[in-house]
Amino acid sequence: MRVNIPPVSQRDTLDTKIKKVFESIGYRIAVLSGKGGVGKSLIASYTAVALSRRGFKVGLLDLDFHGPSSHLFLGLRSRRPAVSFSGIEPVEGPLGVKVMSIAFLTPDEETPIIWRGPMKSSAIIQLLTEVNWGSLDFLVIDMPPGTGDEALTLAQTVKYVDGVLIVTIPSTIALGVVVRAINFAKLVGMKPLGIVENMSYFYCPETEAKYSIFGNSSAELISKKFRIPIVAKIPVDPELQTHIENNNILLLKKPDSPLAKAFDELVDNLLNILNSRKHSENTSNSS
Ligand SMILES: Nc1ncnc2c1ncn2[C@@H]1O[C@H](COP(=O)(O)OP(=O)(O)O)[C@@H](O)[C@H]1O
Ligand SMILES: [Mg+2]
Repeated sequence: MRVNIPPVSQRDTLDTKIKKVFESIGYRIAVLSGKGGVGKSLIASYTAVALSRRGFKVGLLDLDFHGPSSHLFLGLRSRRPAVSFSGIEPVEGPLGVKVMSIAFLTPDEETPIIWRGPMKSSAIIQLLTEVNWGSLDFLVIDMPPGTGDEALTLAQTVKYVDGVLIVTIPSTIALGVVVRAINFAKLVGMKPLGIVENMSYFYCPETEAKYSIFGNSSAELISKKFRIPIVAKIPVDPELQTHIENNNILLLKKPDSPLAKAFDELVDNLLNILNSRKHSENTSNSS
């Protein structure tokens, strides 16, 4: 029997495979934080929905091995993607957001998976090369927290990322953590686009006042030091948890809430930053 093995020159390298998938995606935006629990998944998933609300075609890729949760914010608990010969079909989320998550690859959501190095690498490669995103305006990527080896490996793989949103929370403890995340992003060549301060304040509807319940904001300090704009300050919303448990999307259920409005502002600022970056790139290319 004769087996036709394509010559090396014709075999797709990993790089060309990733390039091919990403070719039809306008912007790849990563969401990064120095530590877990600061609301990275909330920011990634709601930013995706907020962009979709503006009429963009959006995908969300959750690569957080430490507890992928972006799909939960989008009411996609226990969903599974369809797999065909041509690849993995992302799960359709609210407003048509296409979602693919490391959580969809685990046997069930309750069983924690101990991802060992090689498993992680092959899962990442699969998620980067085999998902049929189709053409998208934006792909939002929920990165693992921290700045360790794993994020480093990812950053090398995700060198096609156009920019990063850095998520932080108020408090002096968070300050050192976010500085490390910014330095890390720069080190691996990912351009920080903006800072998102989550749990920034609590808005009391009775008094109409904002309360800094987690301490004073350090976002201005970081913004000034690193010359990275603050794109949003997201309030704490005590109703968020109930909405997640009921598979509801607060952003869509309560579009006039302070939280939803903060995401509108985030999208406005993000689009402005990307537009002005495009403009300055065009100007420098033509001069
Ligand atoms: N602005 C917010 N208001 C209320 N709860 C929040 C807010 N941001 C995050 N949370 C809650 O905090 C927890 C951690 O958020 P998550 O986005 O999963 O963090 P990370 O991805 O950084 O680990 C979740 O239970 C989430 O519902
Ligand atoms: Mg998360």
